[in-house]
Amino acid sequence: MTRSISYSFKRLIVSFLAVTLICLWSMNSSRVDEKFRTGARETQEVGKRFYVKSGKCEMRYVDPFNAEFLKINRPKQFIPCTNESDLVSAHYDKILHQYVLHINEEVLHELSGSKTNDFACFYQKIIYGQSADHYDGKGRRTKISQNYLVPLDVEGMLVECTTADEMRVLQRDAFVFVQYKDPPQKVRLEKRASVIMYGIDTVSRTNLRRMMPMVHEFLKSPGWYEMMGYNKVADNSFPNIFAMLTGISPESAESRICNTDADGCLDKIPFIWKEFKKVGYSTAYAEDEEHSNTFNYAKPGFAVKPTDYYFRPFLTALENETSIQYCPGCQMKYCLGRRLANSYIFDYCRQFMQRFVADRPIWGMFWTNHYSHDDLFMLSAMQHKILEDLLSFEKDGAFEHTIMIFFSDHGARFGPLMYTKEAFLEERLPMMFIYLPPWFRIKYPQYARALAQNQNRLSSNFDLYNTLKHIINIEGLVESTKRSYDCPRCQSLFYPLPENRSCSEAGIPEAYCTCHNYEEVQEDRGTWRMAELVVDRINQYLQHHNLQSLCSNLTLRVVNVTEVRMLEIEEHVSQGKGLRHYHTKFQVHQNLAQFSATVLYDRRTEELQINVELISRINKYRPDAECLEEDVQKLYCICLSKIRNNETIFTFQ
Ligand SMILES: *[C@@H]1O[C@H](CO)[C@@H](O)[C@H](O)[C@H]1NC(C)=O
Ligand SMILES: *[C@@H]1O[C@H](CO)[C@@H](O)[C@H](O)[C@H]1NC(C)=O
Ligand SMILES: *[C@@H]1O[C@H](CO)[C@@H](O)[C@H](O)[C@H]1NC(C)=O
Ligand SMILES: *[C@@H]1O[C@H](CO)[C@@H](O)[C@H](O)[C@H]1NC(C)=O
Ligand SMILES: *[C@@H]1O[C@H](CO)[C@@H](O)[C@H](O)[C@H]1NC(C)=O
Repeated sequence: MTRSISYSFKRLIVSFLAVTLICLWSMNSSRVDEKFRTGARETQEVGKRFYVKSGKCEMRYVDPFNAEFLKINRPKQFIPCTNESDLVSAHYDKILHQYVLHINEEVLHELSGSKTNDFACFYQKIIYGQSADHYDGKGRRTKISQNYLVPLDVEGMLVECTTADEMRVLQRDAFVFVQYKDPPQKVRLEKRASVIMYGIDTVSRTNLRRMMPMVHEFLKSPGWYEMMGYNKVADNSFPNIFAMLTGISPESAESRICNTDADGCLDKIPFIWKEFKKVGYSTAYAEDEEHSNTFNYAKPGFAVKPTDYYFRPFLTALENETSIQYCPGCQMKYCLGRRLANSYIFDYCRQFMQRFVADRPIWGMFWTNHYSHDDLFMLSAMQHKILEDLLSFEKDGAFEHTIMIFFSDHGARFGPLMYTKEAFLEERLPMMFIYLPPWFRIKYPQYARALAQNQNRLSSNFDLYNTLKHIINIEGLVESTKRSYDCPRCQSLFYPLPENRSCSEAGIPEAYCTCHNYEEVQEDRGTWRMAELVVDRINQYLQHHNLQSLCSNLTLRVVNVTEVRMLEIEEHVSQGKGLRHYHTKFQVHQNLAQFSATVLYDRRTEELQINVELISRINKYRPDAECLEEDVQKLYCICLSKIRNNETIFTFQ
């Protein structure tokens, strides 16, 4: 009783805050108001202690606002790119199937300081590159008249408006357009589910609850399912996204198809979007922050345009041609010209759905990292923007048609959360929400039921891949979808997952597995020795990869925490041998780099089993590893050229 009263009270406060904040953010608040008053269904979280609880998996629920977090909490204020109103805006004419540019005369008068309607606006088309990942330059300056019809071959443009005498620039802007194209083949009669993937880098399910409570509230609306037992399968963005989109790990790709580091390899990979395209879907892919793009950061990118609509050439143009603004303390580009970097991506997403979602099946992935990757608190500044995206999609009717996946790749991997007790869970439990539109729930009630049941069962990226495969072949009489290569026991999330599932059955290595209970052990000579042996394995790894001329050998400085796994039930751990699983968190002398490792270790014989590439680096590594290109090795490399003299390191030698 007490709980339900205080809970309703809390909801009231959330609703009130949501409504107030949204009103401040945008004048168009009535929709939100209604949303929060009619309310999403009751959350089942209050008082809950586990996301998953079964014989083989106990995934603990973390209180988002525990005392440890409150100590480091520094929510951020939203900073707009500009306070100026839009001089030029674009809208889509549904009869002409064409975009129209409109000059706002009120804004014109304001900016020019004149009451006349004279202006001179020009655009330059962004020209697609010879290679798929870059633009090649700008077209000629073309004059824009009031209500100008954008030619169909223009998918991106830079705009400049000046006074009529062209003496003074009034405003510069940039636009990207999803231009209408006819469906790739005759649309089949039965309705097929579109899939839109809205992704944000580095958002754990706990951090979503802390930083974006209003978005979380939205994601409780009918049709949304949170996969609360979703656990990442690899360290950083690339392998996690790769698993989701291919069902294989980059290592298996290397042995079966090609090395994803090699030029041209990514073009050969059977990404899921190719399979969607094969069965008649129109496809799109977009990301912000050029240097961190999933397929371009320490990777070769694409030589051939991968999807029908591909944003990256426009991104390279925007980053090269517009004025870039950074927010305080931000390392990634915050504004491109007058707009937030991520707003181009989600406008592109919105247009893609507006153009096509009602008349053909589509698949698209839209991924942002520019604000979330480096600072976990930036999500709080951005939550209105994200909520506004979702509400815009809703207003457009997109949720009547499409399956939406709202997700992340992993949680924070460096920064203040890494020093908390819950760092291990924070890093490994990305948010994962799946939305099923009403028609889909009616047509396939058994799939909706299974998905609901699976919310509190262990799941992984490979299951998500299988689910995408299942959607492609949803009318198949039996589940003939090929299962994920690197997880033969993974399955579509539209079928009930085994209740007693283990991490290995879900393709999750022990180093990333959040199912097991570990308890802290007292530091002693043995725990130090174990960490020392781990450091030595890193050194051997560097030597094995011939990196010793570039990277420093490491020496142990501090062992922060050692934990031992409580119940060893995995088949591969032979009890008799005295091997136990440990977590060890430690720091080395070299640039005070910090690591967290999961090892199998026998304290008596000092036998140690570890895969070095599964050791997590828990502070920022990029500045230390600038001498290397390869992304996995970077984590363990402190470049000799970057060694800082923190203290007397080599005195013992
Ligand atoms: C799950 O596994 C545990 C431990 O292995 C076992 O005791 C239990 O009976 C299993 N439950 C189900 C539903 O299979
Ligand atoms: C916008 O207005 C706010 C409040 O007046 C001000 O603090 C901020 O600096 C302005 N931003 C820009 C980019 O001019
Ligand atoms: C990028 O901008 C620079 C400087 O304005 C320019 O010289 C270069 O040609 C631009 N790149 C492309 C591909 O147009
Ligand atoms: C670095 O560590 C490796 C592995 O322990 C060792 O073989 C090598 O001699 C060390 N190199 C230096 C320069 O100390
Ligand atoms: C480990 O201990 C060192 C020394 O006390 C400290 O500076 C560092 O922040 C600790 N690291 C973690 C992850 O707790």
